[in-house]
Amino acid sequence: MGRRKLVVGNWKMNGLRAQLGEVEAIGGLARDHAAVEVGLCLPATLIAAADGVKGGAFIGAQDCHMKANGAHTGCLSAAMLVEAGASWTIVGHSERRQDQGETDADIAAKALAAKAAGLKVILCVGESLDVRDAGNAEAVVSAQLLASLPEGAAADWLAIAYEPIWAIGTGRIPTMEAVATMHAALRAALASRIGADADAMRILYGGSMNGDNAAELLAIADVDGGLIGGASLTAEKFAPVITAAA
Ligand code: G3P
Repeated sequence: MGRRKLVVGNWKMNGLRAQLGEVEAIGGLARDHAAVEVGLCLPATLIAAADGVKGGAFIGAQDCHMKANGAHTGCLSAAMLVEAGASWTIVGHSERRQDQGETDADIAAKALAAKAAGLKVILCVGESLDVRDAGNAEAVVSAQLLASLPEGAAADWLAIAYEPIWAIGTGRIPTMEAVATMHAALRAALASRIGADADAMRILYGGSMNGDNAAELLAIADVDGGLIGGASLTAEKFAPVITAAA
């Protein structure tokens, strides 16, 4: 199918300049494993400095505003992130959907703003534990994906990250069968909207992915990479995930 694996660290609200050595070391790992596309989505304050030491990795942001400029105190536009050195951004992470009340429509608008400024985009979706326990996770997450998907979604600038909310930072992950079922459902949902390009679009898994489980997760047919939090904060922890994807 020819989808290059995409392995991205999301540092969330972690990282000061003292951690730039880890960025540099991860950039070196990326250079050594060029079969895999490796990136780090960093706090915006680190992007410019990280751009100088990124090696073979790309530097991304974790969010952008949906507007190009204006009276939005504390927010950052996609063009600002590009100027700082970002080439990707995450949108729709569940922590922002929850903490900032971002809606599916907001997320689609952010993805379009990012695209307009030249950023590639990782769009996150995922279910709560209640939804998982109710047995309809695939239907709920597929609907969330279609509601968040921007106009003109295409595999050359957009990737999807499936992150079950209950798996984030908990050490728990779904069964491999559940991951396979969800990723297949999401690809089918994509195909219903964008047709054959769905085959080229990368669908990442995120949520307690680490060096112990990455190989098994990445071996699933529709798992095209990972979005990794805690296990991306040091090169030592991130290395086995990158290696598993190579
Ligand atoms: O975006 C990645 C993330 O939400 C997963 O975090 O720490 O469970 O790998 P973690």
